[in-house]
Amino acid sequence: MKTLRALLLFTLSASAVADCELTIDSNDAMQFDTTAMSAPASCTQVTVTLTHSGTMAANVMGHNWVLVKTADMQAVLNDGWPAGLNNQYVKPGDDRVIAMTDVIGGGESTSVTFDTSGLSTDGDYTFVCTFPGHFSVMKGTFKLT
Ligand code: CO
Repeated sequence: MKTLRALLLFTLSASAVADCELTIDSNDAMQFDTTAMSAPASCTQVTVTLTHSGTMAANVMGHNWVLVKTADMQAVLNDGWPAGLNNQYVKPGDDRVIAMTDVIGGGESTSVTFDTSGLSTDGDYTFVCTFPGHFSVMKGTFKLT
Protein backbone atom coordinates (compact mmCIF):
# COMPACT_ATOMS: atom_id res chain seq x y z
CA MET A 1 0.00 0.00 0.00
CA LYS A 2 2.79 2.34 0.88
CA THR A 3 4.50 1.57 -2.40
CA LEU A 4 1.35 2.18 -4.39
CA ARG A 5 0.81 5.52 -2.72
CA ALA A 6 4.38 6.59 -3.37
CA LEU A 7 4.01 5.57 -6.98
CA LEU A 8 0.76 7.52 -7.30
CA LEU A 9 2.30 10.65 -5.83
CA PHE A 10 5.26 10.34 -8.14
CA THR A 11 2.98 9.94 -11.16
CA LEU A 12 0.89 12.95 -10.18
CA SER A 13 3.87 15.22 -9.67
CA ALA A 14 5.49 14.03 -12.89
CA SER A 15 2.37 14.90 -14.88
CA ALA A 16 2.13 18.29 -13.16
CA VAL A 17 5.68 19.08 -14.23
CA ALA A 18 4.92 17.88 -17.76
CA ASP A 19 2.10 20.44 -17.99
CA CYS A 20 4.66 23.14 -17.29
CA GLU A 21 6.82 22.07 -20.23
CA LEU A 22 5.57 23.24 -23.60
CA THR A 23 6.92 22.65 -27.08
CA ILE A 24 6.38 24.54 -30.30
CA ASP A 25 7.77 23.88 -33.75
CA SER A 26 8.64 26.30 -36.54
CA ASN A 27 9.57 25.74 -40.17
CA ASP A 28 10.97 27.10 -43.44
CA ALA A 29 7.50 28.39 -44.40
CA MET A 30 7.71 31.04 -41.66
CA GLN A 31 5.17 29.34 -39.44
CA PHE A 32 4.73 28.19 -35.87
CA ASP A 33 2.73 24.99 -35.52
CA THR A 34 0.31 26.56 -33.04
CA THR A 35 -1.30 29.93 -32.41
CA ALA A 36 -2.43 29.24 -28.85
CA MET A 37 -0.35 28.08 -25.90
CA SER A 38 -1.24 27.80 -22.25
CA ALA A 39 0.11 26.56 -18.96
CA PRO A 40 -1.63 25.92 -15.63
CA ALA A 41 -1.30 28.68 -13.07
CA SER A 42 0.02 26.00 -10.70
CA CYS A 43 3.31 26.08 -12.63
CA THR A 44 5.77 28.27 -10.77
CA GLN A 45 8.01 28.00 -13.80
CA VAL A 46 7.25 27.23 -17.43
CA THR A 47 9.73 25.82 -19.93
CA VAL A 48 9.12 26.40 -23.62
CA THR A 49 11.17 24.43 -26.13
CA LEU A 50 11.26 25.80 -29.66
CA THR A 51 12.28 23.56 -32.54
CA HIS A 52 12.86 24.45 -36.19
CA SER A 53 12.03 21.55 -38.46
CA GLY A 54 13.23 23.30 -41.62
CA THR A 55 16.69 23.48 -43.14
CA MET A 56 17.21 27.21 -43.73
CA ALA A 57 19.83 29.11 -41.75
CA ALA A 58 19.05 31.40 -38.83
CA ASN A 59 20.07 34.52 -40.74
CA VAL A 60 17.63 33.69 -43.54
CA MET A 61 14.67 31.98 -41.84
CA GLY A 62 15.47 32.39 -38.16
CA HIS A 63 12.88 31.98 -35.47
CA ASN A 64 12.70 32.77 -31.79
CA TRP A 65 9.95 32.62 -29.18
CA VAL A 66 9.42 35.87 -27.35
CA LEU A 67 6.69 36.37 -24.75
CA VAL A 68 5.31 39.85 -24.16
CA LYS A 69 2.13 41.54 -23.06
CA THR A 70 0.09 41.93 -26.21
CA ALA A 71 0.02 45.69 -25.71
CA ASP A 72 3.84 45.78 -25.74
CA MET A 73 4.35 43.67 -28.85
CA GLN A 74 4.70 46.34 -31.48
CA ALA A 75 7.10 48.44 -29.42
CA VAL A 76 9.24 45.38 -28.63
CA LEU A 77 9.37 44.56 -32.36
CA ASN A 78 10.22 48.13 -33.33
CA ASP A 79 13.13 48.18 -30.90
CA GLY A 80 14.15 44.60 -31.65
CA TRP A 81 14.68 44.77 -35.39
CA PRO A 82 17.57 47.28 -35.29
CA ALA A 83 19.19 45.26 -32.48
CA GLY A 84 20.03 42.61 -35.08
CA LEU A 85 20.55 38.88 -35.10
CA ASN A 86 23.46 39.09 -32.65
CA ASN A 87 20.92 40.30 -30.08
CA GLN A 88 18.22 37.83 -31.17
CA TYR A 89 16.28 40.77 -32.64
CA VAL A 90 15.44 41.97 -29.13
CA LYS A 91 16.72 45.22 -27.66
CA PRO A 92 19.26 44.24 -24.98
CA GLY A 93 17.75 44.60 -21.52
CA ASP A 94 14.23 45.15 -22.83
CA ASP A 95 12.24 44.79 -19.61
CA ARG A 96 8.97 44.44 -21.52
CA VAL A 97 10.14 41.00 -22.59
CA ILE A 98 8.78 38.35 -20.22
CA ALA A 99 10.74 35.47 -21.74
CA MET A 100 12.74 34.85 -24.89
CA THR A 101 14.77 32.22 -26.66
CA ASP A 102 17.66 32.70 -29.03
CA VAL A 103 17.01 32.79 -32.77
CA ILE A 104 17.52 29.33 -34.29
CA GLY A 105 17.79 27.97 -37.80
CA GLY A 106 16.69 24.71 -39.41
CA GLY A 107 17.41 21.57 -37.44
CA GLU A 108 18.10 23.44 -34.22
CA SER A 109 16.22 23.71 -30.98
CA THR A 110 16.35 25.98 -27.98
CA SER A 111 14.43 26.47 -24.78
CA VAL A 112 13.68 29.03 -22.12
CA THR A 113 12.45 28.64 -18.55
CA PHE A 114 10.69 31.54 -16.89
CA ASP A 115 8.88 32.30 -13.64
CA THR A 116 5.14 32.74 -13.78
CA SER A 117 5.10 35.00 -10.72
CA GLY A 118 4.80 38.11 -12.88
CA LEU A 119 1.94 36.70 -14.95
CA SER A 120 -1.76 36.67 -14.17
CA THR A 121 -4.59 34.44 -15.36
CA ASP A 122 -6.45 37.44 -16.78
CA GLY A 123 -3.37 38.82 -18.55
CA ASP A 124 -3.28 39.27 -22.32
CA TYR A 125 -0.01 37.79 -23.57
CA THR A 126 1.36 37.16 -27.02
CA PHE A 127 4.26 35.01 -28.17
CA VAL A 128 5.93 36.18 -31.32
CA CYS A 129 8.98 35.62 -33.52
CA THR A 130 10.88 38.90 -33.59
CA PHE A 131 12.84 38.07 -36.76
CA PRO A 132 12.11 41.04 -39.09
CA GLY A 133 8.80 40.65 -40.88
CA HIS A 134 7.80 37.40 -39.24
CA PHE A 135 5.40 38.78 -36.65
CA SER A 136 2.53 39.12 -39.09
CA VAL A 137 2.25 35.33 -39.26
CA MET A 138 4.40 34.02 -36.44
CA LYS A 139 2.50 34.91 -33.34
CA GLY A 140 -0.11 33.52 -31.00
CA THR A 141 -1.75 33.83 -27.62
CA PHE A 142 -0.30 32.65 -24.34
CA LYS A 143 -2.52 32.08 -21.35
CA LEU A 144 -1.96 31.12 -17.75
CA THR A 145 -5.03 29.04 -16.94
CO1 CO B 1 10.61 33.63 -37.48
